[in-house]
Amino acid sequence: ILTLKLPDGATVNVQVHTMGITDHHGVSGVIFYFKNLGLIHELEQNLHRSMKYGLISQLASSIGHEIRNPLSSLAIHTEIIKNMVGKSIRDPDRLQKIHKSLHILNVEIERLQSMIDQFFNLAKSREIELSYENINDLIEETIALVQQQAYERNIRIQCQYANHVPMVKISRDKIKQVIINIILNSFDAMPEGGDLRIRTVHEDGRVKIAIQDTGLGIPEDIQQHIFEFYFTTKENGGGIGLAISRKIVEAHEGELYFESREGKGTTFYIDLPTNVN
Ligand SMILES: Nc1ncnc2c1ncn2[C@@H]1O[C@H](COP(=O)(O)OP(=O)(O)OP(=O)(O)O)[C@@H](O)[C@H]1O
Ligand SMILES: [Mg+2]
Repeated sequence: ILTLKLPDGATVNVQVHTMGITDHHGVSGVIFYFKNLGLIHELEQNLHRSMKYGLISQLASSIGHEIRNPLSSLAIHTEIIKNMVGKSIRDPDRLQKIHKSLHILNVEIERLQSMIDQFFNLAKSREIELSYENINDLIEETIALVQQQAYERNIRIQCQYANHVPMVKISRDKIKQVIINIILNSFDAMPEGGDLRIRTVHEDGRVKIAIQDTGLGIPEDIQQHIFEFYFTTKENGGGIGLAISRKIVEAHEGELYFESREGKGTTFYIDLPTNVN
């Protein structure tokens, strides 16, 4: 392992591998292979965070995209090189070696491509199940999961349900996860305890869930960042909860937004359409 100093002054830890290339004349070349350990460490950390939140399939599909693009570029350029060397290199012995290497490159690229495809399909195949749900019942059920924690943290939960809310077509588990994420954030925002008010509203063909806390509020200068992946102000936070929640709500063609005043509290709104196909 080596520590390299980059031109901009930053340092990076790399692991160096060497590989000799031999032919019948003996060693004809050496390949140095540098592995950026910092990057790998960062990827591992992201992986851990993501596993924690069952996010792995999302991560898999984004990695799938990220790897497919350079892979197809590799495939195209090996093809270009193949055409060019055929015209510019006369020595048949060398030409044969180059073609052999290019063939290996092609085979490896294809192997990676099919690996990525399999992985990608695996990630995609976990279909989300939609069902018609009564939002009020879903909230009751969700509160039951956090009631004990609320009690321990000296937080009172009050509910106010709209009458006759229509059934909403949703992924039950995912919307439950969103509600839990928001409630747990509210708990964190009320370290001395407080009130959590949950309301449902039915208007204009939409069902709205409002989750209001009497916590610290969200400082104005960070308000625009709270939905970003890995944005957190907590020592042990992952910065995942709201990012994933917004994705889930948007996947339901709904909206997730908030109002907040520092020192007063915050209200999050989960706004869902009732006529989704
Ligand atoms: N109800 C709230 N009151 C005050 N600040 C909040 C509230 N909800 C979210 N935040 C702020 O938004 C940030 C991002 O929230 P998010 O749920 O995405 O991540 P986290 O709670 O920090 O970590 P994780 O949810 O991954 O454990 C929080 O760190 C906090 O600063
Ligand atoms: Mg959170």
